[in-house]
Amino acid sequence: MKILQFSCQHFRNLKAGNFSPHPCMNVLYGQNAQGKTNLLEAMWLFTGGHSFRGVKDSDLIEFASSSCTLDLQFFAQEREQAASLCVANGKRQVSINGIAQRSAVSLVGTFCAVLFSPEHLAFVKGGPSQRRAFLDTALCQSRPAYARQFALYQRTLQQRNSLLKDIPRHPELLDTLDIWDHKLSLYGSYLIRQRQEYLSLIAQPVQEMYHGISRGREQLSVSYLSSMRHDPEKPFSEADFYQAIVSARNSDLAFGYTAAGPHRDDLDLRVDGISARLFGSQGQQRSIVLAVKLAEAQALEQLCGEPPVIFLDDVLSELDAGRQDFLLNHLKNRQVFLTCCDPNSIQNLGHGSSFHVQAGVISPAIPEPDLPTYKV
Ligand SMILES: Nc1ncnc2c1ncn2[C@@H]1O[C@H](COP(=O)(O)OP(=O)(O)OP(=O)(O)O)[C@@H](O)[C@H]1O
Ligand SMILES: [Mg+2]
Repeated sequence: MKILQFSCQHFRNLKAGNFSPHPCMNVLYGQNAQGKTNLLEAMWLFTGGHSFRGVKDSDLIEFASSSCTLDLQFFAQEREQAASLCVANGKRQVSINGIAQRSAVSLVGTFCAVLFSPEHLAFVKGGPSQRRAFLDTALCQSRPAYARQFALYQRTLQQRNSLLKDIPRHPELLDTLDIWDHKLSLYGSYLIRQRQEYLSLIAQPVQEMYHGISRGREQLSVSYLSSMRHDPEKPFSEADFYQAIVSARNSDLAFGYTAAGPHRDDLDLRVDGISARLFGSQGQQRSIVLAVKLAEAQALEQLCGEPPVIFLDDVLSELDAGRQDFLLNHLKNRQVFLTCCDPNSIQNLGHGSSFHVQAGVISPAIPEPDLPTYKV
């Protein structure tokens, strides 16, 4: 998957014009507030997802304009394709290869990308919900059945929790609890199995990527921390879930909520056996998120049959020269877009193009005496 050309009109502060990136590494550099992240955000919208900044579509339109249009030409499934996206009146209109689509969701799977943004550092530093969200998002994107079961689990959990609160006032309702426990066991055990399976799929790529980023100096391990006891050698079964939830019934009734299940699970991230959340350095925490994102790209590649585009926003800060070199020069066979402020940090870029972003204008970097010349 490669972006061949991108253009836009009235998208945030980006000026109209064609951007033709390099097929492999693209470094976008410039001072703060010039439009580097805006450019990644604009191209990311072609994945069919919403802005990674969690804003409303109307915020994407240039101030004082009423609509914005984005056009992307890309190479996927062995042919050149084109998509366009227009945001107006709070709605998105999408066309793929000239055919108008009923919704932006049609873009999902047509153009695939993986993004690292500094907000993703919460995956390591934040609470368990941030790590669960990573798993759930990755699984919902790649397995539609997971999205359905996830919604069913959430609904059943809410109903069970309401019942737990009602039972002290209406003890006759106790008999109905078992129905919800069976339902929750069915959906919940499925979610846990899928998460564990996804984790086992990405565990090795995560370790390999981290090994590469840390130049072989550190080892990362990722494991699933279930809030329910079970034999780690066996896949989590519906019976395991039911047994755990029945044995927790009395305390759940006392507290008025379901204390264990996939909604309380977590991931354990360790560098050389030590908790990364509690003791990891900033560079290590950033390296972990990167390793996980790059492994996610590998998993997505298996699904789409080709490597997704990789967007790395503000990734180089806090990384030492060796780790920066890995990102700049060792992500082979993929198209990468990497933003940074300091042009000196790309002095070691071997193969690729760099672009200067200034006041929303993207221009190929002019070789300067202190910068090497890049092969385009
Ligand atoms: N809807 C909009 N219309 C016009 N300008 C906008 C809009 N939304 C954001 N901007 C402007 O875009 C600029 C921010 O761009 P962006 O976040 O891409 O900066 P950046 O180059 O990534 O900076 P940094 O290095 O600080 O991350 C800000 O000046 C902001 O005012
Ligand atoms: Mg930025």
